[in-house]
Amino acid sequence: MSIFRVIEGADSLVGNVDVPADKSIAHRSILFAAISEGTSRVVGFPDAADPQSSLACVRALGVTVEEDEGDLVVHGQGLQGLKKPAGDLDCGNSGTTMRLLSGILAGQPFDTRLIGDASLSVRPMRRIIDPLQKMGAQLSAVDGHAPLVIFGREAPLKAISYRLPVASAQVKSCVLLAGLYADGETSVIESEASRDHTERMLGLSRFETGEDRIISATGGVAPPARIWSIPGDFSAAAFLLVAASLLEGSLIRLPRVGLNPTRTGLMDVLRAMGADIRVENEREVSGEPIGDLVVKSAQLTGIRVDGDIIPNLIDEIPILAVAGALAEGVTEIRDASELRHKESDRIAAVVTGLRAMGAKVEEFEDGLAITGGSTLTGADIATHHDHRIAMAFAVAGLTATGQTRIQDAGIADVSFPGFFDVLDALR
Ligand code: S3P
Repeated sequence: MSIFRVIEGADSLVGNVDVPADKSIAHRSILFAAISEGTSRVVGFPDAADPQSSLACVRALGVTVEEDEGDLVVHGQGLQGLKKPAGDLDCGNSGTTMRLLSGILAGQPFDTRLIGDASLSVRPMRRIIDPLQKMGAQLSAVDGHAPLVIFGREAPLKAISYRLPVASAQVKSCVLLAGLYADGETSVIESEASRDHTERMLGLSRFETGEDRIISATGGVAPPARIWSIPGDFSAAAFLLVAASLLEGSLIRLPRVGLNPTRTGLMDVLRAMGADIRVENEREVSGEPIGDLVVKSAQLTGIRVDGDIIPNLIDEIPILAVAGALAEGVTEIRDASELRHKESDRIAAVVTGLRAMGAKVEEFEDGLAITGGSTLTGADIATHHDHRIAMAFAVAGLTATGQTRIQDAGIADVSFPGFFDVLDALR
């Protein structure tokens, strides 16, 4: 089996695509169902490798999860019913699994050890270790990285009020989940709004004062057992929104995509760049807004993207940079230094890849500026074991002359199994 995928230029992309179920919501549905009182049903749990890591961990913690007509039936164990796993909990490539699960494990009476793949093992974990230690949890890590050992305790954790030092929904969720095991009300204060699926799904209280949003979890209150219906992943749709925008004559319809405003920053930016994206049939599913997206090709113009919108499009910056490379004028993305701590250093990976394809790119510590307008040339692209880099450069390859070879292309399965087949089908 070849370890790279060859992408040839395409004229246009036309068709309908059911994008995979939302990864962020999928992780949360299985983790919350595991510690709920009663039986939950998860409709549309994705095959993608990342959510499957959360599912495997939950099963290893003694939670029975059955498959029923394509749904998952999860027999929740309540806050106190998880069992000591027989071995390490393998989080694979998934930072969300490791960081959210750590919040739950910090409150368990048994020790656990969380491991991840090479990419996850170099991602920063201090950001969750610090607040968990403030809550009285005992953890050890290797220089702030996985493997993480979380020591069991009988006593409840200490409720804290914690101001997030980085805009991170994973850290926010970790602290709030640990708060379910604390002796009172644990609050997280964020000055930049990060994705709010945890607070929506757990029905947590939240209020805004000035620049801040304060979200609180009450110790001892288990998540409700319920039916979770997972919408399509906007972060997966993003690649097709950009591909269709860039290739003349394209028209793609993406039904049932999650449109939570803390996730759709890319749509706002693409529209400001001139993209033709329509939302139809807006409705709500499991407390999340969803709709059908219809995107047609359009001439894009460069734009500056910075400030508060960055957390709402953080995962979409690689594909936004590809859009910038084909747009008229300069697209500058700043305030995005968090990108250096994702599955790869995404600023470096995007800068290197776009330069290899002939684009004019300036690199900053917190972002990049791309001077667009010229055609890209096919090149060999290193993905650094990062699904979003693989998919972003596959889209770049569709617009390029010559062949683009995406190394380690199978990594796209982390969030979008079948991505390359979808592109082929749309040609
Ligand atoms: C996620 C939060 C984001 C995002 C990640 C998924 C989540 O990470 O990049 O892909 O589901 O909470 P950070 O919270 O570290 O920014």
